[in-house]
Amino acid sequence: MHREFLLGGFIVIFMAAVTGAAVVAKITNGENADIIDCPWQISFQRQRKNGSWSHRCGGSIINERWIVSAAHCFRNPNYTASDYRIAAGSSFLSQMTVFRSIKRIFMHEFYEKPLEMDNDIMLIELWTPLSFGSTINKITLDDSKSNIFVGDICKVSGWGQVNVTLGPSGDPDRLQLSYIPVITNEVCALSWPLDDIGSSKICLRKNGTDVCFGDSGGPVICKTNDGINKLVGLTSFGPDECDGIFGPGVYTKVSFFLNWIKNKMNMNLERKDYYKKDWKYRTNINKKKNRKYRKNKNKKRNRNYRKYRKNKNK
Ligand SMILES: *[C@@H]1O[C@H](CO)[C@@H](O)[C@H](O)[C@H]1NC(C)=O
Ligand SMILES: *[C@@H]1O[C@H](CO)[C@@H](O)[C@H](O)[C@H]1NC(C)=O
Ligand SMILES: *[C@@H]1O[C@H](CO)[C@@H](O)[C@H](O)[C@H]1NC(C)=O
Ligand SMILES: *[C@@H]1O[C@H](CO)[C@@H](O)[C@H](O)[C@H]1NC(C)=O
Repeated sequence: MHREFLLGGFIVIFMAAVTGAAVVAKITNGENADIIDCPWQISFQRQRKNGSWSHRCGGSIINERWIVSAAHCFRNPNYTASDYRIAAGSSFLSQMTVFRSIKRIFMHEFYEKPLEMDNDIMLIELWTPLSFGSTINKITLDDSKSNIFVGDICKVSGWGQVNVTLGPSGDPDRLQLSYIPVITNEVCALSWPLDDIGSSKICLRKNGTDVCFGDSGGPVICKTNDGINKLVGLTSFGPDECDGIFGPGVYTKVSFFLNWIKNKMNMNLERKDYYKKDWKYRTNINKKKNRKYRKNKNKKRNRNYRKYRKNKNK
């Protein structure tokens, strides 16, 4: 009864092939959410053969170019990053205002290792940066592994199924959210004896409400000691019933992966390319060419670089 909160047929295949419990989640018995209260929430979408796009998973904006989500959202080997996009800026899937195509997706190197549900995290790099405003913004990552949150009531959100009995016909157009308390990993592990509910995971449970298929990768937002709302978890898996009664939902714990996230982003920032080019250029003994380079060709790059700095400092 182990499910990931993905959508559609391939989850069923995954369930049959592995231990039997992958699902994508949607929130059951949640409430209507307003994107202004969750401006970091995005919809991770895949293009169908007929050209239309379907919501697959949730995700959270870390900065203008990067989204964090769950690795199982990109597990299907039949698709590449170019088959996906992110949509942002509206509470309604049918009214999204901003779309971005995807440059690269970094799944965790140890995703599904050693156990099926381990290291369920990925980073999505966008081709063009997002512009922030009231409906699109970033969320601060929880940066302390020592933050535990047990007993705290955290906010989960997504466009996942609202009622598993209804199946896909219960997919909401409007973003849903729910407030669910964090439980201890020890209690959580009793419900998931085949998994390692260790320090890389965090569990939430409340009778009657839970994330469900289609919520995967989406945010768990908790208030840290400094009073700031931070991204603490990513929806990963839970019981197929999606009602909190059969067992807790399990989430990837963001602070555990903070270094991985930072390293991936730093290694892949364009800024690095600018530095590299500058360095190569500076070492060029042709000074005349250097002057020309600085004067002309580098203008655009400098502009871009400044833009990057500006964005980064926001
Ligand atoms: C494409 O397929 C989906 C699902 O099969 C369907 O809901 C949608 O209406 C189709 N869109 C177009 C443009 O044909
Ligand atoms: C990938 O495509 C093949 C051929 O269409 C299909 O048999 C297989 O089930 C697909 N795999 C997934 C995970 O959807
Ligand atoms: C889900 O839908 C079924 C069928 O319409 C209904 O009987 C049930 O009460 C619904 N469950 C929830 C949690 O709304
Ligand atoms: C959950 O709530 C329902 C309805 O209030 C109740 O019947 C059921 O016993 C509760 N289950 C647990 C495990 O608390």
